[in-house]
Amino acid sequence: MIGRLNHVAIAVPDLAAATANYRDVLGAKVSAPHDLPEHGVTVVFVELGNTKIELLHPFGANSPIAGFLEKNAAGGIHHVCYEVDDIIAARDKLKASGKRVIGDGEPKIGAHGKPVLFLHPKDFSGTLVEIEQV
Ligand code: CO
Repeated sequence: MIGRLNHVAIAVPDLAAATANYRDVLGAKVSAPHDLPEHGVTVVFVELGNTKIELLHPFGANSPIAGFLEKNAAGGIHHVCYEVDDIIAARDKLKASGKRVIGDGEPKIGAHGKPVLFLHPKDFSGTLVEIEQV
């Protein structure tokens, strides 16, 4: 069912410092910061040969990653995103397997303009999993 690793998202307390680390120390190609008010985050995309890293920083008052950064002051891996061909079929199979889909179960448009869903970390070895239809 799952395909490629689309991205690993890392919550960071200092977006400029994290971006500089990837660009200047690791020599990666990084994007400009993108504010995504509907997701409560500012994102910098780090392009790797085989996948992406997304550096996430809180945007606005009710950011979904603010609590995560309170518990992980240095930042940390927030979620991994796997590609699927058909997100509705994937959702239905996951639900039939007893996996919890976060929210109302309807895909939302994610940071790349494509439908995404998030799966409960307790069902996936303590890891928040995003699936994205590509
Ligand atoms: Co993501």
